[in-house]
Amino acid sequence: MLLEIRDLSVAYGKAVALENISLNIGEAEFVAVLGPNGAGKSTLLKAISRAQPSIGTLELRGESLQDLPAHAVVGKGICHCPEGRRLFPELTVLKNLMLGAYLQRDKAEIAAELTEVYQLFPILRERGAQVVSTLSGGQQQMVAIGRALMGRPSLLLLDEPSVGIAHRLKMEIFGAIKRIQERGTAILMAEQDAQSALRIADRVYVLEHGRVGREGTSAELAADDYIRQAYLGVA
Ligand SMILES: Nc1ncnc2c1ncn2[C@@H]1O[C@H](COP(=O)(O)OP(=O)(O)O)[C@@H](O)[C@H]1O
Ligand SMILES: [Mg+2]
Repeated sequence: MLLEIRDLSVAYGKAVALENISLNIGEAEFVAVLGPNGAGKSTLLKAISRAQPSIGTLELRGESLQDLPAHAVVGKGICHCPEGRRLFPELTVLKNLMLGAYLQRDKAEIAAELTEVYQLFPILRERGAQVVSTLSGGQQQMVAIGRALMGRPSLLLLDEPSVGIAHRLKMEIFGAIKRIQERGTAILMAEQDAQSALRIADRVYVLEHGRVGREGTSAELAADDYIRQAYLGVA
């Protein structure tokens, strides 16, 4: 198992955001987390990247992450593309991408990864010298995903990559995420667009009020009456 989570809980003061969550991700597996606003999706990703303290079991390839600071988790191969992108809007596309490679020392590896990011998102090569604030929301999301990839993750955490993005760019971004998985990177993606998530993910967990409501393969959940009514809008 790449990532194993058992009985993981997070509280913000007295407010419990995640309660005894159990979830796992295999090597190069694509797992989606669905759920309404406030369900705890972002909290789960933050707990995995150690941006938010949690209690319970959190293991990468059998090794606990619970005592590690967030920067050390990046060094272990978990890169987080956060909600709202968190780019540096006044820096260029290239500078923002290079910030994701801050732990890498090998110049040839950095160059190779940059080439891969440009293959996934060709528009970023064209816009390399442009400041990020001048890009569209979809292009900024590509920069955010590219920056996370520059850390050469074995697990990429994506927090609602499609939110607020025009349909065509959204499809392009989901296609690129699928290709990232196909080259061997595991993906954990929080997403509101249940239909798209069920189409590209291998397995899905549904979070509701900080707990896992349903889980299964994408095919199982796409055929589940409750999921169809609550998340796919099928009567
Ligand atoms: N920094 C915070 N301080 C206090 N409460 C928070 C904080 N972040 C999130 N919450 C609360 O935790 C719950 C889960 O939030 P979140 O993980 O952001 O959900 P989602 O990403 O599924 O919308 C919500 O009730 C939210 O209001
Ligand atoms: Mg969120």
